[in-house]
Amino acid sequence: MTAPKKLFIKTYGCQMNVYDSERMSEALGGQGYVATDRPEDADMILLNTCHIRERAAEKVYSELGRYRVLKEAKPDLKIGVAGCVAQAEGAEIMRRQPLVDLVVGPQSYHRLPQMEAQIRTGVRAIDTDFPEEDKFEALTARPKARRAPAAFLTVQEGCDKFCAFCVVPYTRGAEVSRPPERILSEARDLVDRGVRDLTLLGQNVNAYHGAGAGGDWTLARLIWALNDIDGLERIRFTTSHPNDMSDDLIEAHASCPKLMPYLHLPVQSGSDRILKRMNRSHTAESYLRLIERLRAARPDILMSGDFIVGFPEETEADFQATLDLIEAVGYGYAYTFKYSTRPGTPAAERVQVDEAVKDERLQRLQALITRQQQAVQQTMVGRDLTVLFEKPGRFAGQMGGKSEYLHAVHVHAPEAQPGDLARVRITESVRNSLAGVLI
Ligand code: SAH
Ligand code: SF4
Ligand code: F3S
Repeated sequence: MTAPKKLFIKTYGCQMNVYDSERMSEALGGQGYVATDRPEDADMILLNTCHIRERAAEKVYSELGRYRVLKEAKPDLKIGVAGCVAQAEGAEIMRRQPLVDLVVGPQSYHRLPQMEAQIRTGVRAIDTDFPEEDKFEALTARPKARRAPAAFLTVQEGCDKFCAFCVVPYTRGAEVSRPPERILSEARDLVDRGVRDLTLLGQNVNAYHGAGAGGDWTLARLIWALNDIDGLERIRFTTSHPNDMSDDLIEAHASCPKLMPYLHLPVQSGSDRILKRMNRSHTAESYLRLIERLRAARPDILMSGDFIVGFPEETEADFQATLDLIEAVGYGYAYTFKYSTRPGTPAAERVQVDEAVKDERLQRLQALITRQQQAVQQTMVGRDLTVLFEKPGRFAGQMGGKSEYLHAVHVHAPEAQPGDLARVRITESVRNSLAGVLI
């Protein structure tokens, strides 16, 4: 028997890339690869890339440069680029980087085994098509290995929203929803293998509309069906668009027992003028009203968001409106980004905000967000929460896990195993996590 070949995958970008890397690793498992976390041991290196901001894309080229020595030492080493940079710049990567053997876009991962066979014969392979066939169907041959308690599951992919700053509609393609039956069977399989907390993924996950029994299913209907799976304890979903937050989904937050009180709902800006130029098709006011409805349904729901500063033409007054919106919402988490021009998107052509101004706004935004996050985390102290243990902590007998609200919690719990749920009294809010004691 020949020794298994080793595969090193480096994952950048969003949670969907994490999910995709698992699927690619499984697909190449069928070609005799086992995973390694050391690139120098690998027979194949795959970079699963992100194109969302300029810096993210640049990292890919510098990382590839670092692999040159590895390839010189081991000429049989194969190097592949997957993900959104592959989709956006595949042909150029092939041209600029002779050491790259393979380029594969997100919609072609099911073709990886054939592509791998091709590059083994010394012929470079590139596939950035948007094929008709269902890639997920071809990617679900899962091994039966035990899984960590928390997992991602892609239910929807692609985006038809075309925000003026964003590359995702170009790199992931048009919105496609997977059929509910497939998702449910994948979820059951994950639960059989130890998963307790499932995060449903989609670029616009709440626009989910999978063709199932009785017609198109909404995300809410899918969540209710997942709620019936024994052994599954927690359901989350990300990322949602404000315009697709339907009544049945808000209702699910009120009454679906396994749906967690946490929602990532990006708004990007608090200025209607900027929102309009971003092509967001909602206003700050409609967003705030939506959050009111969500909080009426689930008063303790913890809100999370994404914000961009320095979008073209953003004035100090526009930026102030963003700060005001954040003050009004009170976020538990928020992710802040400096606007980055992306080739091919409408906003790239407009008058840009000065870099120093962007930096200064980002700092002020981050200061506000940090204060808010800490304040929300502080409200957890003294409360009794349920923690899903994920892995041992840094100290003997300590376990780390997540609360309903996705805060990291550390507890002295020598008997506990990953996957256990425990009631915990929160005693302290440390920088990025909570400490508590078993009740
Ligand atoms: N709906 C998507 C959003 C992906 S991008 C999803 O699946 O999560 C995540 C965030 O990156 C966006 O919400 C936005 O805040 C930020 N972003 C996107 N394009 C950007 C750009 N050109 N410059 C800066 N930030 C950007
Ligand atoms: Fe990008 Fe907007 Fe689509 Fe989100 S909704 S993926 S930000 S275009
Ligand atoms: Fe990045 Fe593509 Fe995700 S651009 S954020 S990896 S969808």
